[in-house]
Amino acid sequence: MSERVLLEMRQIDKRFPGVHALDHVDFKVRAGEIHALMGENGAGKSTLMKVLTGLYAKDSGEILLDGKPVSFHSPLESQRAGVSTIYQEINLIPYLSVAENIFLGRQPLNRTGIDWRAMEARAGKILAEMGVDVDVTQELRRCGTAIQQMIAIARAIFSDARLVVMDEPTSSLDEKETAVLFQQMRRLKEQGLAIIFISHRLDEIFEICDTVTILKDGKLVEERPVERLTKLELVSKMIGRDASDVLRRKNGGYDAAGKRTVLEARNVANEVKLRGINVTVRAGEVVGLAGLLGSGRTEFARVAFGQDGDYTGELEINGQPVRFKSPRGAIDRGLAYCAEDRKVEGIFPHMSVRENMTIAILPKISRFGILNAKKQDEIVERYIRSLNIKTPGAGQQIHNLSGGNQQKVLLARWLCMEPDLIILDEPTRGIDVGAKSEIESLIQEIAGRGIGVLLISSELEELVRNCHRVVVIRDGRNVGDLEGGSISEENIMERIAQGAAKEEGHENG
Ligand SMILES: Nc1ncnc2c1ncn2[C@@H]1O[C@H](COP(=O)(O)OP(=O)(O)OP(=O)(O)O)[C@@H](O)[C@H]1O
Ligand SMILES: [Mg+2]
Repeated sequence: MSERVLLEMRQIDKRFPGVHALDHVDFKVRAGEIHALMGENGAGKSTLMKVLTGLYAKDSGEILLDGKPVSFHSPLESQRAGVSTIYQEINLIPYLSVAENIFLGRQPLNRTGIDWRAMEARAGKILAEMGVDVDVTQELRRCGTAIQQMIAIARAIFSDARLVVMDEPTSSLDEKETAVLFQQMRRLKEQGLAIIFISHRLDEIFEICDTVTILKDGKLVEERPVERLTKLELVSKMIGRDASDVLRRKNGGYDAAGKRTVLEARNVANEVKLRGINVTVRAGEVVGLAGLLGSGRTEFARVAFGQDGDYTGELEINGQPVRFKSPRGAIDRGLAYCAEDRKVEGIFPHMSVRENMTIAILPKISRFGILNAKKQDEIVERYIRSLNIKTPGAGQQIHNLSGGNQQKVLLARWLCMEPDLIILDEPTRGIDVGAKSEIESLIQEIAGRGIGVLLISSELEELVRNCHRVVVIRDGRNVGDLEGGSISEENIMERIAQGAAKEEGHENG
């Protein structure tokens, strides 16, 4: 890392109606460093980056690139000046091919126009280097989310950039893909590029970043080299108070005596991925479903919730055998499923926080077709408060909220239905540590009210902090069951690894 300052943002100020998103922020990035931009949901990270790239106009302040004042009026302009961005929301074009998406705006040309063959060959080579195996001539929308994310990254990296902005690039990547990304980031760094990296996963910050800048409520809190910062200090500065409680274990003991079983799954298997899953969740119990990406966790949730009707085995809800044909049937029996992808899940961007939160319970809080607005407001205000949702009010259109706060509204949508069993699939993805802790407390609270919770998370720490029991699965079947004090990251990893060993032994023998 050199001392040469590549980017300097001085006294950047930006207001939205009702929100002072950036309050005279200073931000400096040196050539050859990976610089983490940290802060809670709504702290202003994405806004600062959008001001940099010209997507938003700043109210005041100065931006210097390589010592020269710049002012970009569009992302294209900033890209031409060597600032390449991967936004939090993937913004590629679904109906163009993979190759076109990588080279959009700077396609290699020949006499007759775009040199398709050259473009496709180069795209293929770039992706192969990143370990992504995909047909570059197919339409982008045919690729999964993680692959699309890798393509966005390829686009940003191979565009002769001097500065690459990555706004939560890892939130939809699995461990392997994240490792590939980090490898590319290190390569760019060696070439003297600077990277601005935004992530809510603390471990990633300590693994890959050199420097951290912390924002809180639109204000600069501090800039510091990563090696002179502990996790506890970082979190405390982000949330503005001592964070010891945030990182502490939350699950107390669970006494199964006399508790009714809310979910019982026996030998659930299907053609897709499941090869015999057994899970029991009792009232008030938090059960974790652990496993690597692709192990079948989400697949199981979908089956239990009636989204994939084709399966063998048995499901019982509250002691009654069930076979759901659709989520509607599951909801009627008291199930809720907060899915991992909030876009698919259905945020209604131009509707208010209030409407987005209560859309599923409107019949419940209406009489003779007339909405009880007072009751609606009570519920909405309660969840805005208990989840600490940052919004100027319940009437705000949800698309104006920061990514993490949108996630909280969705979670509230399911919680206010007061189900018997709630399946939470990666509920804290993209959510900051403070809010994570709030959501974790909330998980304990809903369990305390007698609701069964099935928690799917790829963050082992989160399972350890929250679960009374953890079911470990691998390749679509159970490989372990941990309870109480025996739940630890090491034990979960060990079960996953042993599951693999068993399997190999099985296949060899
Ligand atoms: N276009 C907009 N209109 C109105 N308010 C906005 C707009 N964009 C951002 N905001 C508000 O500005 C504040 C900062 O939002 P920003 O998206 O920068 O947060 P963030 O730090 O990126 O959070 P997250 O970690 O959740 O992505 C939030 O209060 C947000 O609601
Ligand atoms: Mg953001």
